Amino acid sequence: MKFSINNISVITDGDKEAKPIVFIHGFPYDHSMWKKQINYFSNSYYCISYDIRGFGESRDFDGQHTMEMFVDDLELIIDEMNLQKPVLCGLSMGGYISLRALERFQNKLSAVILCDTRSQADDNQGRLKRASAIKRINSEGHKEFIKEFITNCFGDYFKQNFSEELQSIIEYSQTFDPKGIKGALLAMLSRTDTTSFLEKIEIPILLICGKQDNLTPPSVMRDMYHKIKNSEFVEIENAGHLAPIENPEEVNSAISKFLKKIGY
Ligand code: MLT
Repeated sequence: MKFSINNISVITDGDKEAKPIVFIHGFPYDHSMWKKQINYFSNSYYCISYDIRGFGESRDFDGQHTMEMFVDDLELIIDEMNLQKPVLCGLSMGGYISLRALERFQNKLSAVILCDTRSQADDNQGRLKRASAIKRINSEGHKEFIKEFITNCFGDYFKQNFSEELQSIIEYSQTFDPKGIKGALLAMLSRTDTTSFLEKIEIPILLICGKQDNLTPPSVMRDMYHKIKNSEFVEIENAGHLAPIENPEEVNSAISKFLKKIGY
């Protein structure tokens, strides 16, 4: 089913009475990046995915975006849909949203799955890189930026063996509105650092990281794992920064085991 909440395009799969999982995509994708998880988990869970403002079909925005707005949107979806303590599953930018959501309202959640993400805010170098990406998009459009950014996210195994799939992911993201792309760059460069909150997380957390992720490498996620009391860490073979797309079997199995273990 597809509907809109405050202009955010929301998609549901599976039985409404089953336990909810909310999937939050990374940059620069939309809800469809989770299709291999949703196909699998919608047999036993109520799967909710959505397009973050500025992406996919959530287009009707001005591009002046902050991480706080992204978290407000998530909270509104949880409240409006009356989701009872869902599990969140966020990748990279979706992980930044999930981490800030934990800080703001962990009491509304059962558990969180963090894929290929980090708790640190951007450092100066990272902020300047985002600023130059915005400048580049303003002068030459967003297509080349999207192509380079996405290509750099995937590991060699996927690039060599699934080049057509990679090409179609790039072409699809190139259809997004550049205002949304720039809005997310602004939101990411101005986001707060959630590291000091990691030790205050009380609910179960699963951390998943592609072994060849060079944007948020396993060492970064292992540090997060050491700081979170009730957490597990799984590294995924043959995967870079987009582990759920690159190796869905291992990612789905890690998520399944985790959900079983916490009795969800
Ligand atoms: C993502 O996958 O969401 C991005 O790599 C996040 C980022 O650029 O920090």
